[in-house]
Amino acid sequence: MKNRLIAPSVLSADFGNLQRDIEMINESQADWFHVDVMDGRFVPNISFGFPVLKAIKKHAKKFIDVHLMIVEPEKYVAEFIKEGADLVSVHYEACTHLHRTIHHIKDLGAKAGVVLNPSTPISVLEDIIADVDLVLLMSVNPGFGGQKFIENTYKKVKQTKELIARHDSKALIQIDGGVNLDNAKKLFAAGADVLVAGNAVFSAEDPSKTIEYLKID
Ligand code: DX5
Ligand code: ZN
Repeated sequence: MKNRLIAPSVLSADFGNLQRDIEMINESQADWFHVDVMDGRFVPNISFGFPVLKAIKKHAKKFIDVHLMIVEPEKYVAEFIKEGADLVSVHYEACTHLHRTIHHIKDLGAKAGVVLNPSTPISVLEDIIADVDLVLLMSVNPGFGGQKFIENTYKKVKQTKELIARHDSKALIQIDGGVNLDNAKKLFAAGADVLVAGNAVFSAEDPSKTIEYLKID
């Protein structure tokens, strides 16, 4: 059965009405919460940390997917899992010891994801693909919501799917950045399992309806 999961990115939510937006996601057909943590070093932006994750966890009724756009993520994965992350994704480009960090996340009982920036080739995953639960392919340069989708991502989805098959991996493919109603279908058709959508959902007239349309085959 083909996965068609939608993970709205909380980065684009209204932080003056966060509980309202969390409840909208709870009631909607969304599958996950995507929580973007930024440190102002790995990416040129600062978002939020543990207190916001705690607040999300308090109200969220769905899987919480935490995307760490930070340096030295290995120092913080335990705290993010303690505060409610069901899945923690770390950037390949931020990890000196990726294999150790992936297994650290899994040993703590969470799902483990690896993230690739747009210019990082799929080939770097050759010796870790069998260990991860998720591959997050950035379809924008990380750091901000509302950016333009990078078309080369389709090729990377197909390459990742082939790598997963070759290694008999169970990893899901997640796409993050610039996802909207114009490219969602094509991304699922190319082999994506999970689509992150921030701006497309939260700037929509009817966010809940948009989530429904993003899932439609
Ligand atoms: C960007 C984040 C994305 C972003 C997605 O660095 O990782 O999750 O919030 O937002 P949109 O869907 O608005 O591009
Ligand atoms: Zn993200």
